[in-house]
Amino acid sequence: MKAFSALFVYSIMLSFLRPSTTHDCITPCQSIRDGETMMSAGGIFKLGFFSPGNSKNRYLGIWYSVSNNDGVVWVANRETPLKNHQGVFKITNKGILVVLDSTNTTIWSSKTSRTAGNTINNVTAQLLDSGNLVVKDGNVSDPKTFLWQSFDYPSDTLLPSMKIGWDLDSGIDRHITSWKSMEDPSQGEFSGYFDHRGLPQLVAMDGDRIKVRLGSWNGLHFTGMPWLIPNPFFTYKFVMNEKETYFQYDVPNNTFFLRYVLNPSGVGEGFKWMDTTKSWEIGITTQADVCENYAHCGVYSTCDINKSPICSCLDGFKPKFPNDWNSANWSGGCLRETPLACNDRDGFQNYKNVKLPNTYFSWFDSNMNLKECEEMCLKNCSCNAYANLDVRNGGSGCLLWLADLVDIVVAQVGGQDIYIRQPASVLNMELPIFDLITISNATHNFARYNKLGEGGFGSVYKGTLLGGQEIAVKRLSKSSGQGFNEFKNEVILIARLQHRNLVKLLGCCIQENEKMLIYEYMHNKSLDSFIFDQTKSKLLDWRMRHNIIGGIARGLLYLHEDSRLRIIHRDLKASNVLLDNNMNPKISDFGLAKTIGGDETEADTKRIVGTYGYMPPEYAGYGQISVKTDVFSFGVLLLEIVSGKKSKEMCNSVQCHNLLGHAWRLWNEDKPKELIDEFLILDDSCTLFEVLRCIHVGLLCVQQSPEDRPNMSSVVLMLSSDNPLPDPRQPGYFTEKALLGEDYSSRNVITCTVLEAR
Ligand SMILES: *[C@@H]1O[C@H](CO)[C@@H](O)[C@H](O)[C@H]1NC(C)=O
Ligand SMILES: *[C@@H]1O[C@H](CO)[C@@H](O)[C@H](O)[C@H]1NC(C)=O
Ligand SMILES: *[C@@H]1O[C@H](CO)[C@@H](O)[C@H](O)[C@H]1NC(C)=O
Ligand SMILES: *[C@@H]1O[C@H](CO)[C@@H](O)[C@H](O)[C@H]1NC(C)=O
Ligand SMILES: *[C@@H]1O[C@H](CO)[C@@H](O)[C@H](O)[C@H]1NC(C)=O
Ligand SMILES: *[C@@H]1O[C@H](CO)[C@@H](O)[C@H](O)[C@H]1NC(C)=O
Ligand SMILES: *[C@@H]1O[C@H](CO)[C@@H](O)[C@H](O)[C@H]1NC(C)=O
Ligand SMILES: *[C@@H]1O[C@H](CO)[C@@H](O)[C@H](O)[C@H]1NC(C)=O
Ligand SMILES: *[C@@H]1O[C@H](CO)[C@@H](O)[C@H](O)[C@H]1NC(C)=O
Repeated sequence: MKAFSALFVYSIMLSFLRPSTTHDCITPCQSIRDGETMMSAGGIFKLGFFSPGNSKNRYLGIWYSVSNNDGVVWVANRETPLKNHQGVFKITNKGILVVLDSTNTTIWSSKTSRTAGNTINNVTAQLLDSGNLVVKDGNVSDPKTFLWQSFDYPSDTLLPSMKIGWDLDSGIDRHITSWKSMEDPSQGEFSGYFDHRGLPQLVAMDGDRIKVRLGSWNGLHFTGMPWLIPNPFFTYKFVMNEKETYFQYDVPNNTFFLRYVLNPSGVGEGFKWMDTTKSWEIGITTQADVCENYAHCGVYSTCDINKSPICSCLDGFKPKFPNDWNSANWSGGCLRETPLACNDRDGFQNYKNVKLPNTYFSWFDSNMNLKECEEMCLKNCSCNAYANLDVRNGGSGCLLWLADLVDIVVAQVGGQDIYIRQPASVLNMELPIFDLITISNATHNFARYNKLGEGGFGSVYKGTLLGGQEIAVKRLSKSSGQGFNEFKNEVILIARLQHRNLVKLLGCCIQENEKMLIYEYMHNKSLDSFIFDQTKSKLLDWRMRHNIIGGIARGLLYLHEDSRLRIIHRDLKASNVLLDNNMNPKISDFGLAKTIGGDETEADTKRIVGTYGYMPPEYAGYGQISVKTDVFSFGVLLLEIVSGKKSKEMCNSVQCHNLLGHAWRLWNEDKPKELIDEFLILDDSCTLFEVLRCIHVGLLCVQQSPEDRPNMSSVVLMLSSDNPLPDPRQPGYFTEKALLGEDYSSRNVITCTVLEAR
């Protein structure tokens, strides 16, 4: 036992004499000279003098033992390098760490705010296995009692278990600053820290300018760091309370060696040590695309890397400097086209899946819900937007923006909803919200005798409001799984479409799981009730039919090209064209698809919806959708109006001689007159010319290849002029038996309109 103790003491003495030491702490009697190192108890970190790259300067630093000094994680004398190998690292008996040069001049000290009392010999500097160099008074382990720790003064590296953020008790704001270059650890121009103003957010700064905003914490991750997800390498947490705000990641039991570095170019890089290659491998890096550059698109805009151009103004905003904007200099941002009313007539527009804007001037409350948040925002004229503070469990808390909205990015993953304040004119909030009681009274509690029709979306009822106004109520089936806000937004979108050849939406009703759209009532019902009815078709003379054709064409042109949204109807057919008192056509069922509910719409998209006989081959066969899908349907409808025949009527169990085939045959046999409805009275040759021209345009619209079909602006022009028309080519239609008997023939498949933002 004695011999063992002697050996132990001897070996300790020896280790003090050896140039490279392996102890994990020093006392005021001891020192670390250049050439010697200190190693943490578990051997994970080393402290010693090093020279970065090809530099001759000497610095005191800490690094992972495995990687030698490739990947130094902390540097003491960043700004005051030693010019030779004579440096010494010591701790004074007051507990101050010092680096001395060959003349015993202090070139760096730890400037401890708390110093040890009068104790001598009881202060130690210890390198922990976390990489934290700590000064302790006595044998203590609680970090709160440490006199000093390097983790409070990070260099360019965030190590596992290190906190980035601030501590209100000690006044310490832990942040990282880049090296000047790979060979010069002195403070570079980039830094990473929490911005204290408003809701704390993590920023990477270039001097005093934000370079990248990693953003505020949303319960799961920072709004601009969606890749921060639970993973097998590290755990992480964000803590925000009255005492401190910080972010920290941890590697349980040091199973992996990780470090996160803000490199000299200002790019954050996460490294993992690879045992196999004995090198650091880059995992995470910030700044994957230009949208991550702070405020790339200026104020009141969104940046979407998948769009061209990538920057767009928010709805209701226009570029502040249109010339710069058009030449791809987006920094000027956007401004409102119409000022806010600054009262409760303003409303909010929901933008989905975005990185939230800069929170430097924001206000937050974790106890409020979204409804209270909206009310709060509406009350304060400087409030431009609101969102949930925490996205977990369906969302909670309230975050308000009280300044310009900057740096909204359309997120590829991990985005969230934001509600942006808009004046009524942008939202069309004039759209009345009807009470359920009003509607059920108007329809006599949805009486059977008031039912006008039924479709995949639900049922349509006729109703009469107390004032006498007649309405058509589209009552969506309760199974449609859509939420309140989604539905409201969709309705607002539809309500903004206004054209004399589109059915006018009067309002909506959202109450007790009921979702209803209220339309103007069309006295003369739908076009199919006339043209395919032997008695009623006689009421439609050519003047009326021509007016109807022109109206449908103009309504469609508006949907395709003139409205703020590009809309493809996808289910244009005679039963979706309604007729008003004066027999003016109004297209209905546009934009309804989106109100049908997530799952259903998705399934339908896969299933190809539409109505057999009106679908072009590229859509029916391959699901390809474009405005030319509608052009085809329009052509079919045109031929139906002229012929009084249903496009799919001519199918038997073996083959379809559909209307298109029939029309094409007659056209080629130079007998197009035979296509004309026998009940259609033609007064003169002038009328005949118009009818034949319509057949011609119809055939152009139904050509096999979508590229051959004219667009709706051309169609409108063709219908209203006498210019010569090109010869039509083979129409696109099916004669394949394979398609017979399939679900395609069901008549009233759900209307599915496609809305594309412009
Ligand atoms: C530096 O201090 C050490 C110990 O205090 C002493 O031995 C040495 O002579 C001093 N060197 C110079 C250049 O003053
Ligand atoms: C110094 O530390 C030892 C053990 O760590 C302790 O017993 C002693 O009281 C300490 N001295 C003072 C002055 O605090
Ligand atoms: C420090 O305290 C721990 C327990 O708190 C003990 O295991 C260890 O031996 C002590 N070290 C010294 C040098 O006193
Ligand atoms: C870490 O070590 C502790 C104690 O040694 C052990 O209980 C725990 O399972 C380890 N965790 C991991 C992730 O290895
Ligand atoms: C970019 O646009 C801003 C504002 O419109 C303008 O001040 C700036 O000079 C432009 N920069 C360049 C490089 O044209
Ligand atoms: C609106 O918010 C700003 C910023 O918090 C505040 O200064 C102002 O008093 C608020 N106005 C109202 C009417 O609450
Ligand atoms: C319902 O309609 C009747 C007349 O049809 C009217 O007297 C009554 O006030 C209405 N009720 C409501 C709640 O609108
Ligand atoms: C269309 O409806 C109006 C109003 O109900 C009616 O007067 C007119 O006769 C109808 N037109 C046709 C062609 O049925
Ligand atoms: C429609 O077609 C015409 C003729 O091909 C073309 O000049 C025009 O640019 C097209 N319009 C649109 C919006 O594509």
